[in-house]
Amino acid sequence: MLPPALKWEDGALYLLDQRALPLETKYRICRDYEETAAAIEDMTVRGAPAIGVAAAYGLALAEREGEFAEAAKRLAATRPTAVNLFWAIKRMEETRAAHENEKNLTVLLEREAAKIHEEDVEINKSIGRYGAALLPDECAAITHCNAGALATAGYGTALGVFRAAAEAGKKLKIYADETRPRLQGASLTAYELMADGLDVTVITDSMAAFLMSRTKIDAVITGADRVAANGDAANKIGTYGLAIAAKHHGVPFYIAAPLSTFDADCPSGAEIPIEERAADEVRKIGGKYITPPDVKVWNPAFDVTPSELIAGIITERGVIRAPYKENIEKIFPGGNA
Ligand code: MRU
Repeated sequence: MLPPALKWEDGALYLLDQRALPLETKYRICRDYEETAAAIEDMTVRGAPAIGVAAAYGLALAEREGEFAEAAKRLAATRPTAVNLFWAIKRMEETRAAHENEKNLTVLLEREAAKIHEEDVEINKSIGRYGAALLPDECAAITHCNAGALATAGYGTALGVFRAAAEAGKKLKIYADETRPRLQGASLTAYELMADGLDVTVITDSMAAFLMSRTKIDAVITGADRVAANGDAANKIGTYGLAIAAKHHGVPFYIAAPLSTFDADCPSGAEIPIEERAADEVRKIGGKYITPPDVKVWNPAFDVTPSELIAGIITERGVIRAPYKENIEKIFPGGNA
């Protein structure tokens, strides 16, 4: 059984330490907002929806500390790309504003965080059902990074599509890109799909194009960290190259993402802030240098796939197709607000 990425127990947030997986299963306990922010920053918890849920609980903890406003700022400064983080902070701020004069504000905010947590699982299941309908009964697919139960409140977005397809009796062969530099595909996607008894094969990122040239691949499905108003989608570094390879081989490339990942106020991918992480993530593997220790490194954590490479964006309300600008505008008339 796959352990949950997040648990709220006895007034504290328990985060499955994803840095230790798949070899060790241990939880880190966050009893205040600063511990929660640090855990998001160092990627104990990661994945766009999961960091949104963690931030919501962080704000519930902050209310108890009497530091809600400071916490909202601190949590918003942890990771810049996944818009779910800002979406969850805004939802908690709105809840607080609506109940500001009530005595049991701490309890109300804990409940709201738990609601965000529970809703995310249902949303993923709905994404799964819409996505599964796109796949043939015998399906070979590639995914990148980890957009699974570990990256969400449970079930997953891209991996939720595979779970739903398997539940519907479809026969799947899933290839997981290892996802350099942090290896979320090799360590997390492989682990979580194996835990569910799904057929998973790990490839290095550089093998995906060749795989498509040699094997019939029916779909590439990834998650997203932010979808702009024109359908451009930011996701883990390497996704863009995978989408180009998919286009070249005539393989449909799908994004699976909840509506909380859409930033209708962001006109295109060019405006999405891209997190750059520490150089040692690239210089080292398994704690050991694989490069000259002082070599220069560029380490963007995400890239942007232009919407013309995307065959469809699978959401909890159905599959959005081109023309993306018009179709996203229908869901978010006048922007996110
Ligand atoms: O840096 P990470 O591990 O947080 O990046 C995660 C991804 O890029 C996922 O694909 C994305 O957040 C979607 S998770 C459902």
